[in-house]
Amino acid sequence: MMNKKIYIIIVLISLLYGYIIKYNMTHQNSIIAANSDLGQMYYKHVCSRCHGINGRGQNNTYPPLMQSKWVSGDNGILIRIVMDGVTGVIEVNEKKYDSEMSGWRKILDDRQITEILKYLRKEDQSAHSDQVIEQSEVRTIREQTKNRNLVGPWTAAELNAIRK
Ligand code: HEC
Repeated sequence: MMNKKIYIIIVLISLLYGYIIKYNMTHQNSIIAANSDLGQMYYKHVCSRCHGINGRGQNNTYPPLMQSKWVSGDNGILIRIVMDGVTGVIEVNEKKYDSEMSGWRKILDDRQITEILKYLRKEDQSAHSDQVIEQSEVRTIREQTKNRNLVGPWTAAELNAIRK
């Protein structure tokens, strides 16, 4: 027969050991979750097809998102572009594009748009790209422009008029 005291000690030690493993697992999971970049994942799935995997754009149709004044500029204008798209002549890095992007209003939710834009700003090396963007701003612009999709994508002229 095993000594009763030793038995209790063994049970207590194995319980403690179980808790330590459990603690480590949860802790590690939260570290993994914090490090994986959701914005990068959404970007790759949704935007990279046209703007390129590294945001450098493609040929004369798809403008770059890196070093773009639209991306590092006014939050409200950038959010409007992503929400309802942009059409017609648009200048990006001193080069003119004349095409159209449909909006993402119905496809992406506020959180996804925020994560993508945070990711682009993080990747972008140009000045002002460290400007913060919040999900609450995305929600506000979505509300403020809720009928825009009846009109269609923005033109650069309309967007530049908002900037004032
Ligand atoms: C189907 C192709 C396509 C996809 C996918 C796409 N875009 Fe665009 N995007 C365009 C085109 C084309 C333009 C330029 C439109 C014009 O010439 O008026 C543009 C313009 C832009 C602009 C303004 C110009 C610039 O380069 O800064 C931004 C910002 C932008 N897109 C962001 C995004 C984001 C963010 C995503 C993913 C949610 C995305 N786009 C997905 C085609 C696309």
